Formats: sequence, C-alpha cells, structure tokens
Amino acid sequence: MPLVTTTEMFKKAYDGGYAIGAFNVNNMEIVQGITEAAGELKSPVILQVSKGARAYANHTYLVKLVEAAVIENPDIPIALHLDHGDSFELCKSCIDGGFTSVMIDASSKSFEDNIALTKQVVEYAHAHGVVVEAELGKLAGIEDDVNVSAEDSSYTQPEEVEEFVDRTGCDSLAIAIGTSHGAYKFTPDQCTRNADGILVPPPLRFDVLEECMKRLPEFPIVLHGSSSVPQEFVKMVNQYGGNMPDAVGIPEEQLRKAAELAVCKINIDSDIRLAMTGNIRKYMAEHPDHFDPRQYLKPARQAVKDMVTHKLINVLGCNGKA
Ligand code: G3H
Ligand code: 13P
Ligand code: ZN
Repeated sequence: MPLVTTTEMFKKAYDGGYAIGAFNVNNMEIVQGITEAAGELKSPVILQVSKGARAYANHTYLVKLVEAAVIENPDIPIALHLDHGDSFELCKSCIDGGFTSVMIDASSKSFEDNIALTKQVVEYAHAHGVVVEAELGKLAGIEDDVNVSAEDSSYTQPEEVEEFVDRTGCDSLAIAIGTSHGAYKFTPDQCTRNADGILVPPPLRFDVLEECMKRLPEFPIVLHGSSSVPQEFVKMVNQYGGNMPDAVGIPEEQLRKAAELAVCKINIDSDIRLAMTGNIRKYMAEHPDHFDPRQYLKPARQAVKDMVTHKLINVLGCNGKA
C-alpha cells in the first residue's frame, strides 16, 4: 500500500488501547531496521524525519529510502512524518515533497502565536491531504539545536487544550507530562536510586494526561521524549570506550500505561541511537582490524531491529495491528 496518513492508525489505536511507534530515521540502516521489525510483526509504523535529519541526509534521499521500505513492506501502513517542524516554510516543503504528516512545534511561542502558526500549517496541510501534529507545553531536553532546560520546561495546562485544538484544527496534540528529549532526561538529583544504585526518575504526570483526555474525547495525544535509555546499552557503550554517566530514561511500564490511554503516538529515537552506538563500539573493539563499514553497520542494523521489535510488542502493543 502507498504511504498513509496517521488518521486511521490513530483511530484504531485509540479504540484498541495501544499506540503507534514513531521512530526517527537518518540513514538506510535505521530505515531497514525499523521497517523489517514492523513488517515481520505486521505493525503499523511512523517514520519521522527531523530538520537535522534532512540537513544530514537530504530530503530526497530520505523520502526515497522510505519509499523503498514501502515497496519492501507492502502489507503494513507506513506514514512519513516531519518531526519538530519549526516554521511554515519547512512544513510546506515536506508537504510538497511527499510527507503524509507534519509536526509544527510552536510550543516555545506564546499561546496566541502557537495557535496562529499551527493554524496556518493546518490550512495548507489539509488542503493537500496531509495531517498535522501540534504541541502545547514544553519538554525539557535537546532537539536539533534547541536545548530547553528543566527550569524552562512546563507541563501542558489542560484548561488550554480544547481551545487550542478547536482554533487550530490540528489532528493530534503532543503534550508535556514529564517526558524529555535525549539520553539524560533527568539529573541525578531529580531521581532516587534503587537498591542496585540505578537512577529512578520521577513518575509521569498521569493526572495531566487524564485531564487532557477528559477535555478532548476521542482525540489522539502524542508523547515525545519517550526513550527508556535501557541500562544494558548504556553499560555496553561505557564498557567499549564510551562515557555516558547517569543516562536515564522513562520506565517502559509507564509508557505502556500511556499507550492504553489516549496516547496514540510515542516517539522513540534515543534508544535506537544508543543500541546502534553500543553495538558499533563493541564491534570495533572486538575487531580492531576490520574497516569495511558493512561489517559494523550490520550488527548496528540488527540492534535497531531488535530494539524496535521489543518496543512494538512490549511498550506500544501494536504488533499484529496492521
Ligand atoms: O526530538 C528530536 C529527535 O530525537 C530528533 O533528533 O534533531 O537530533 O535529529 P535530531
Ligand atoms: P527521545 O529522545 O526520548 O528518543 O525522544 C525522541 C523524540 O521525541 C523525537 O521527536
Ligand atoms: Zn520530540
């Protein structure tokens, strides 16, 4: 089937109590690892491209890699989404260039300016058959060159969501309930330590999510910053020459619970990066004489596939939902 929008995926996910995984793509191995996992598990999937990914790999290369994945996996719905679009022009370029979904992230602007820019993108996108994700509330962490400190982040205010969705016409809404971008989501002093000395982050604000759900019945909610930063891969990175002290993510059981509620899209990027990096470091350390990139990219691609397989089954619950 051709690339799809997220409309039907989200409706089924909302009704079925699961979420769709949205994974960032930057090169061929990542596209292959994600879509091989989704194809084998008969799972719908969202492939998303950031401004930084476009700058790194080029719009056309990424679109063509995704089109190749669509040809190779004809039985599963695949959406191509712009992650964190920061201007009308960037969103327009992706809409004109074959994306089926865009995010306009005007969450750093005032409420009124966020509405105005989101509405402008929605009007253009809908006229071209493309859906729009917007954001209300600010996540901490790093995305592209924007670094939002924990002090500047703020939870979504549920009393604003109905007016925002009504006035913009957006198709889904990313909210801030305590998730955060990157591999260092919380500082050690924001966490407690369990008996094994592992950092335990503060729980997500399910009260904020539930209040948003009440005000937006049947409406798809999105969670960004939802990597779990598995300690197994942090250890692997550190064991083979890396240095990632105190990396910490969102516990998977909390994301599973969110997926059973109105959260229809969960964004995961850092976990893929971590799995690739850990495996490349390990391969390099164990094979110091190898220099063919295919040799170390092969286990890295397999690590992406294994990570996505685990997420689709155990976190998102969308296996078999294609
Ligand atoms: O939230 C951002 C994603 O992890 C994409 O990251 O901007 O480094 O491509 P990037
Ligand atoms: P992570 O950094 O937690 O993987 O979040 C990715 C994301 O939200 C992409 O938009
Ligand atoms: Zn994000």
